[in-house]
Amino acid sequence: MSDNDIKKGLAGVVADVTAISKVNPETNSLLYRGYPVQELAATQPFEAVAYLLWHGELPTASELADFRATERANRALAPEVKAAIDALPIDSHPMDEVRTAVSVIGAIETAGIGNVLDAVGTPEQNLERSLKLFAVLPAIVSYGQRRRRGQRIVESRDDLDYAANFLWLTFGEEPDAVVVDAFNRSMILYAEHSFNASTFTARVITSTLSDLYSAVVGAIGALKGPLHGGANEAVMHIFDEIGTADGVKGWLDRALAEKRKIMGFGHRVYKRGDSRVPTMKAALDSLVQHYDRPDVAELYSTLEDEFVSRKGIYPNLDYPSGPAYNLIGYDTLTFTPLFIAARITGWTAHILEQQASNALIRPLSAYNGVDERHIQEYEPDT
Ligand code: CMC
Repeated sequence: MSDNDIKKGLAGVVADVTAISKVNPETNSLLYRGYPVQELAATQPFEAVAYLLWHGELPTASELADFRATERANRALAPEVKAAIDALPIDSHPMDEVRTAVSVIGAIETAGIGNVLDAVGTPEQNLERSLKLFAVLPAIVSYGQRRRRGQRIVESRDDLDYAANFLWLTFGEEPDAVVVDAFNRSMILYAEHSFNASTFTARVITSTLSDLYSAVVGAIGALKGPLHGGANEAVMHIFDEIGTADGVKGWLDRALAEKRKIMGFGHRVYKRGDSRVPTMKAALDSLVQHYDRPDVAELYSTLEDEFVSRKGIYPNLDYPSGPAYNLIGYDTLTFTPLFIAARITGWTAHILEQQASNALIRPLSAYNGVDERHIQEYEPDT
């Protein structure tokens, strides 16, 4: 086997088929079940997109009403889950907190299934588990931020839809419509992206016939890294380091001299710009106007212009979403947990798809260690 046969990082490898989303870097488009993501972001509530990803079609008005009723009924944080979060150090990373909470939910929901052969569950059970995780994640993520700020937990409001209720749970104030709209768009844009690292992780775990919760916990671990979901947090650290637009050139000179990766730029699949960025940038612009923060827009575009002109590498979704979440009032460390709350829909759609047409995912490796050798005193059995 030559080095050319090895696809390091699985770059360019088509590992399976999927009917959930289509990424086309040539046309710079991303389709969820056939619909362009920017059309969904402009017209749909996130609940309808979750339904679409799981069921393959947008819901009718009555299907959406039923779906929302189930979502509302499953929003509350169970006392055992809250206790598990409270048992963690206050300075645990929020991604570890959410990963732990999902693991605890999994242990509770699958209690009594002692036999690993039954761990995988039925498609109906897994759809229900997916919806329940989708419904409770806003409470987990919001409580995490409130706990770190020393604030009491806020209960859900049945009169608010998913996005508005999420913001209510975090801030304890009814959000303005422009903020709800920007947040809803971000959730839709983050929902699904074919075989990205965390989704593929979920599919690998699912392929062993492990359970949905184990697959989601593994996916959260993959998402945490700054080359993937952790980039939205990392973008904000960069903005904080740079300070104002005046600081961009000097900061970039130093960062590139140190061969740093500039977080929020570049993509394994898109090489001429991320299809989701224009929609999220428009949402960021609406927040800049709403909060009257032209300085944020100036820093954003100065760094983008400078980096693109020097390296020809374009922003990805994490670049506009980081400052957008900051303007809304989220702590920087909460940004990637927000990504979890969105991507739970894509992950679980892929888990269901993998279960429906499973093959164990088990690639090969080429050995490059020492040649065969032997223990001197070893005598083989005769
Ligand atoms: N800053 C500086 N240089 C970069 C960057 C960047 N952000 N992205 C790519 N490059 C350079 C890289 O150093 C390499 O240069 P050379 O050929 O001279 O060694 C070249 O471009 C190719 O990069 P690569 O890392 O081999 O490409 P990849 O397809 O493996 O990486 C990536 C994709 C996303 C890991 C990378 O662009 C990166 O590290 N970006 C920063 C982290 C980030 O924003 N991640 C979010 C990804 S998209 C949304 C998500 O999943 O959350």
